[in-house]
Amino acid sequence: MRTQVAIVGAGPAGLLLSHLLALRGIESVVVESRSRAYVEARIRAGVLEQDTVDLLVAAGLGDRLAEQGLRHDGIHLQWPGERHRVDFRALTGRSVWIYGQTEVVKDLLAARADAVHFEVSRTALHDVDTTRPKLSFVAADGVAHVVEADVVVGADGFHGVSRPTVPAPLRRTWERDYPYGWLGVLAEVPPSTDELIYAWHPNGFAMHSMRSPSLSRLYLQVDRGERVEDWSDDRVWDELRTRLGLDGWALADGPILDKGITPMRSFVSTPMRHGRLFLVGDAAHIVPPTGAKGLNLAVADVAVLTEALGAFFAEGRADLLDSYEERALRRVWRCTHFSWWMTSMLHTSGDDLDRQLQLAQLRYVCSSEAAATSLAENYVGLPHELAA
Ligand code: FAD
Ligand code: DHB
Repeated sequence: MRTQVAIVGAGPAGLLLSHLLALRGIESVVVESRSRAYVEARIRAGVLEQDTVDLLVAAGLGDRLAEQGLRHDGIHLQWPGERHRVDFRALTGRSVWIYGQTEVVKDLLAARADAVHFEVSRTALHDVDTTRPKLSFVAADGVAHVVEADVVVGADGFHGVSRPTVPAPLRRTWERDYPYGWLGVLAEVPPSTDELIYAWHPNGFAMHSMRSPSLSRLYLQVDRGERVEDWSDDRVWDELRTRLGLDGWALADGPILDKGITPMRSFVSTPMRHGRLFLVGDAAHIVPPTGAKGLNLAVADVAVLTEALGAFFAEGRADLLDSYEERALRRVWRCTHFSWWMTSMLHTSGDDLDRQLQLAQLRYVCSSEAAATSLAENYVGLPHELAA
């Protein structure tokens, strides 16, 4: 098999890259270790930045998003006894959109499924430091294939094979594991809030998000070692009611459709480019989910790489490929900082000094326009040239 760009991973990053390249007439092949049904059902992100939405719309993927996406002009920040709104629209003129990653992936697959080989095994990259890199894999039917390409892209997430293809002595990583994770539930009940609630509570962080007018998505901070089996539906709702509680407001409950625990980490690995191998999205970096940045960051990487590959294939120019890593990393580090900051402000761990500092920071964000604007402009997404 021969193609121009061989892509590992049919998550949002790999699929979007394949789609944007196709719009420019550039061929690609995508390999994915999971089934299409699994990839479409994996519940993860829910918040899209305006720039992410604009990019999806411009790429012809906006129909269902326009019908089903919910525009949110702010969020609520809460601590016991107080709930405050941060008004993104007033502070930045921008908004975010609630539209599940599952739906983004379905929209992408509706456009690009033909380019994807699902349920592959033994994916490996070869000769990435030459001008003829290769991708090998065993297809679902057991037949082994080798794809020869001009460029290979690792969009295979944190646990993928692409990042380890970069020789270990060249790699540098920065990593922090947090001593807690998120227990996330999807519940069949209309959201009890118009906009997302991020709540600080002595028992731990809680968040009320949503997927649609009839589906709520809720999260609880739990200790790192906790097992999902120890969280009955009743226990989840009790704890959500405690942490999100506010006089005069009630949390409606309903059947829980999905429940899972996600560990939280900050992680950045360089280089994001080695020879003809380029890494995008979670393959190169992970942020804790509190700032809702992971998916948006993956999309931003893909936007920068698409432009660079466009110049390379259309005009033979390598300069944008050469500057890909530097351009991508500026935004990566900005979002890594914002996600760490949101996480540190809202999750309880440590002693009472930490708690008092968190409450002081929350009060400051909710009373100073300058502080609120800083949170708002990061949350809605800094334009690329300001992300340094
Ligand atoms: P992935 O989605 O991980 O896709 C990688 C793909 O590669 C997978 O399909 C995998 O099966 C495949 N793969 C792996 N190894 C191989 C192999 N060897 N061969 C072939 N295929 C392989 N982000 C936000 O922006 N907003 C949010 O609100 C948000 N909330 C989140 C909430 C939770 C609970 C979690 C877990 C994450 C959240 N994120 C959020 C982060 C976001 O989901 C990720 O950043 C995003 O999925 C990254 O996309 P990706 O395509 O880079 O990687
Ligand atoms: C969701 C996830 C996030 O990480 C976040 O900050 C806000 C919302 C969600 O899944 O809806």
